[in-house]
Amino acid sequence: MSRPPLAPIRWPAEAIWEAVSPVLPGFTVEVLPTIESTNTELMRRFRAAGPTAAEPVLLVAEQQTAGRGRMGRAWQSRAGDSLTFSLGMALQPADWSGLSLAVGISIAESLQPAIPGDGQPRIRLKWPNDLWLIDAQGERKLAGILVETASWGELRYAVIGVGINVRALALDAVPAAADQPAALPPAALQDILPGMDVARALQLVAAPLVQAVQAFGLFGFAPFQARFAARDALAGRAVQLSDGTQGVAHGVGENGALLVHTAAGMKEITSSEVSVRPMAPPNGGALSC
Ligand code: BTN
Repeated sequence: MSRPPLAPIRWPAEAIWEAVSPVLPGFTVEVLPTIESTNTELMRRFRAAGPTAAEPVLLVAEQQTAGRGRMGRAWQSRAGDSLTFSLGMALQPADWSGLSLAVGISIAESLQPAIPGDGQPRIRLKWPNDLWLIDAQGERKLAGILVETASWGELRYAVIGVGINVRALALDAVPAAADQPAALPPAALQDILPGMDVARALQLVAAPLVQAVQAFGLFGFAPFQARFAARDALAGRAVQLSDGTQGVAHGVGENGALLVHTAAGMKEITSSEVSVRPMAPPNGGALSC
């Protein structure tokens, strides 16, 4: 399928730096035309240089050649189609659980005001790291989050990788992805915001994301719990875990663990290595996960 040539992207690096650096000293924004993976790059820098590479940075890639998703999956994207970036910063929360949920909440909330409609959340959160778009086609994955951490002595460094589909893909252009059914293309922001582009999307999400991660570092997940509930895509639905367990999802606890009511009682799912899928879409709509 032929695509219009890509105009140079005008990244709002300076505006983001101006918004963030007063609250996060040392913060920089770096945009690269192509790189293997923004997460891999920031982890590599920190592992190689430790504290001297721990200054907060927003690394944006126009194109990743080996983007990574959760559970060893690939994250495939093309320049201009997806916004791909990682935020790297030192972080010392008392408890790390729920960080990817806080990131998803921040991104969904930052995009919401741009979405026309009645204010109902069209972007929902699928525990633990996906954002789903709810539209006439049903519910489809819009974005994914990959949080990785590394230590250097007492210093803990977090790399928060985000991939958001921005430009709608024709079905024949959709790369094979392990977590998308063949019949449906993934969702894209342009499905609900026709003029959206990767630069504008970054402008909307970057500064609020830094604030959310700072808040998480201070207070943990508890202040995000109710905000997650307002967008929880699984609440009240029959789900199946990757270990075969079935039950009904009952939201998340104060620590971000998914609560699933099973035949053996209430189970707390904390492992990010467990995947969860709803067993039926709400209202019989289309489903992908
Ligand atoms: C998932 O859906 O499993 C998570 C996808 C995370 C993709 C982003 S794109 C920017 C950053 N760099 C990566 O290699 N992965 C994350």
